[in-house]
Amino acid sequence: MPTLVIVGAQWGDEGKGRIVDLLSERAHMVVRCQGGANAGHTVVVGDQQFILHLVPAGVIHPHTVCVIGNGVALDIPALFSELDMLAERGVGIEGRLFVSDRAHVTLPYHRLLDSPRAPQEGGRRLVTTNRGIRPTYVDKVARLGIRVCDLLDEERLREQLRTNLREKTPGLHFLPAEELPTEEALFAECREWAARLAPYVANTVTLVNRAINAGQNVLFEGAQGTALDVDFGTYPFVTSSNTTAAGACTGSGVGPSKIDRVIGLAKAYCTRVGDERPFPSLMEDEMDERIRRQGGEFGATTGRPRRCGWFDAVLLRHTAAVNGMDSMVVSKLDVLDGLETVKICVGYRVGDRVLDEFPADLRSLDSAEPVYEELEGWSERSTGARSYLTLPAKARKYLDRLALLSGVPICIVSVGPRREDAVIIDTGLPQYQF
Ligand code: IMP
Repeated sequence: MPTLVIVGAQWGDEGKGRIVDLLSERAHMVVRCQGGANAGHTVVVGDQQFILHLVPAGVIHPHTVCVIGNGVALDIPALFSELDMLAERGVGIEGRLFVSDRAHVTLPYHRLLDSPRAPQEGGRRLVTTNRGIRPTYVDKVARLGIRVCDLLDEERLREQLRTNLREKTPGLHFLPAEELPTEEALFAECREWAARLAPYVANTVTLVNRAINAGQNVLFEGAQGTALDVDFGTYPFVTSSNTTAAGACTGSGVGPSKIDRVIGLAKAYCTRVGDERPFPSLMEDEMDERIRRQGGEFGATTGRPRRCGWFDAVLLRHTAAVNGMDSMVVSKLDVLDGLETVKICVGYRVGDRVLDEFPADLRSLDSAEPVYEELEGWSERSTGARSYLTLPAKARKYLDRLALLSGVPICIVSVGPRREDAVIIDTGLPQYQF
């Protein structure tokens, strides 16, 4: 049962789409397990770029079966526009896309409650992608959610919408009366969704477990990153799902004993969307600007600029532990080409102590002064490299330090945006070896 979980090891945007695309060449099935349309997974094939939000990035390979698991917050209009985009660009999904009947649906009122128009709760604004993620998961945990199976059941749907609207409407008081969602309009919209969605709906728990039991290669595609995990990230500046390897299990209905390997993805540096905190290894302005430009660090979902920081080994040790990471992919090494020196954050100075563990409390994280190890940079380009030994010698030294300081071996290094721009060292699974 060669099952592989891919998770982000930083604050998301580590290049998961590209690596999932690469590894899914060998996968029979690719499963999304959490998050929703807040994710933006970019895949470049030849001169074509695909940005996927909900459909697993493995879809680009025509042989893969794609599953949207129960843990995903399903934004149905976003899914439909993605399906339209794929159809327009010649990527057929008929017969190979399955949506969990247990997935929770993001409804228009979730998006409204998550929009910048909604008043700040207690004066505190949590920056989000405005995709309705938090309200969808709030309803899931509050047991008010509408699941895909409910959409298909007219009677139940009507009853749930009625109750939910009664509960939600006071919270939507910032809207003029004519913009408030009505039961009739919502019901009609949901029924329209149901009609188009129905052919894709399945008991994906059975589907995925059957594939695993049949010995197929199943790849679980994480979204966001571990530092955004609701339990282990920089709470409360996180997303609302478990972005860790455990989330692959709860978000798909697969037991932990069925997972063979966990691969974490880390950029050769760090990024974080917008001006969100905390971000201990944030670079100085000039370097931040340079790496953002060189790395094209702008959100795939929101277009917002990402701030850049040095590789944070304190964070990596934490994310390696909470994911049980077997190995890591280091992406975008080429973005660091040509720098005179490169830094690795090896500790956080908080007051008169140096922490080598990732702290839980925001006050420590916010005041953490990074302790850096500085290495020589490399002037050669890494992009053409196809084996570890053909990478610039100083880049290899940098990678060796990253692995040692993080305590995780490196399995793949990506050195450019195209499928072929990757150095594959050892994925740890013969079924995913190239
Ligand atoms: P939400 O997931 O829309 O609630 O946003 C919560 C936080 O997670 C915000 O800081 C977002 O910028 C961040 N976030 C959510 N999804 C992604 C992602 O795919 N990449 C990077 N940041 C993300």
